Amino acid sequence: MQTELIQEARRQAEICNACRYCEGYCSVFPSLHSERAFSNGDITQLANLCHNCRGCYYACQYTAPHEFDLNLPKALAEVRRDSWESFAWPQPLARRFHTDGGAIAIALVVGFALLFWAARAIGSSGGDGFYAVLSHNAMVAIFAPAFLLPLISVGLSLKRYWTEVSGKPIQFSDVTAALKRVGQMQDLAAGHGDGCNFEDEDRFSQARRHIHQSIMYGFLLCFASTSVATIMHYGLGMHAPYGFWSLPKLFGISGGLLLTVGCGAMAFLKQKSDRELGDPSAWGGEFGFILLLGFVGLSGLVLYALGSTSFMPALLAIHLGSVLTFFLLTPYTKMAHGFYRLAALIRDAQRKRLS
Ligand code: HEM
Ligand code: SF4
Ligand code: SF4
Repeated sequence: MQTELIQEARRQAEICNACRYCEGYCSVFPSLHSERAFSNGDITQLANLCHNCRGCYYACQYTAPHEFDLNLPKALAEVRRDSWESFAWPQPLARRFHTDGGAIAIALVVGFALLFWAARAIGSSGGDGFYAVLSHNAMVAIFAPAFLLPLISVGLSLKRYWTEVSGKPIQFSDVTAALKRVGQMQDLAAGHGDGCNFEDEDRFSQARRHIHQSIMYGFLLCFASTSVATIMHYGLGMHAPYGFWSLPKLFGISGGLLLTVGCGAMAFLKQKSDRELGDPSAWGGEFGFILLLGFVGLSGLVLYALGSTSFMPALLAIHLGSVLTFFLLTPYTKMAHGFYRLAALIRDAQRKRLS
């Protein structure tokens, strides 16, 4: 990991430890105050706990032009991105995608082209609906490894993270405590529950929190749609296409709407926000991730709306291309945050349990 980023975050954390003004703001400060000296692992854990709500920046009396030049949200955002890049496997891929949003777009286009080609070349096995364009077996052959390989990569990365932050054996209660915080995204509401200061200086707002929930639950509904369809196909012998009132369709359409609208709103908030309170070098990569995720949702909805027209084969190839790109890039894009942040919350639950 880049030592100058860690050193800068350590310098700031030491000032906060003496000051203690932001004690009740978020989970970072109780964790910070429980240490007297900060190892690299401590700083990495604090960075992944920070939700970039920016409250501490606006409350701080030591920001520039004060000589202490405090900007804790930025210092932690930079360490956070650097930790994801350093722990990623295979490592050389990671640096490109966090800092280079263009690379994400190019990968997306290549994904479209390959899938388009594959859809035509592999052909169908005489199935109905989408399977008339690309057979069920061909879809499984493409998507099963595209789903499993990134998960293996993320698993290896998280193992490195866990060692770095001195994680202990995980108990069930650690996981439930962390999931409860994710479920309500409590940390984006700040310690007092009024919301965060992300989009408009020291004005509190719940917008980012609610938008995040729309995206996260939208994504989970889309994932549930595919999982239920797989169970129906293999477990119950019920083959697609499914009707409107079936679970795969209901989950998929509602999830696609939440995902698309949420990503549009998130992109709007993000372009209004102050880049200097996050990680400016990763701005392009982060924006690319939001657009890619939104495009997955939007292309799915368009495919649903126009699925019975002659546009269907092209729309199917585009949608599957974006999904494939999204899955394959998961370990190297901002998508990694979901896994690391869950790990950080589990580690924080352990700290509380053991203190
Ligand atoms: C363990 C669960 C998760 C946690 C704790 C979490 C937490 C966060 C936090 C704290 C932020 C704002 C700070 C930052 O920019 O890093 C954020 C941003 C975001 N999250 Fe999540 N998240 C989770 C899962 C997800 C999932 C499953 C999705 C959708 C697939 C998602 C999509 C996003 C998006 C699009 C952003 C905005 C990125 C940006 O502004 O650059 N998150 N998340
Ligand atoms: S961010 Fe500023 S005000 Fe808050 S604890 Fe740190 S030094 Fe004190
Ligand atoms: S930006 Fe928000 S979450 Fe991060 S340390 Fe400051 S108050 Fe805590």
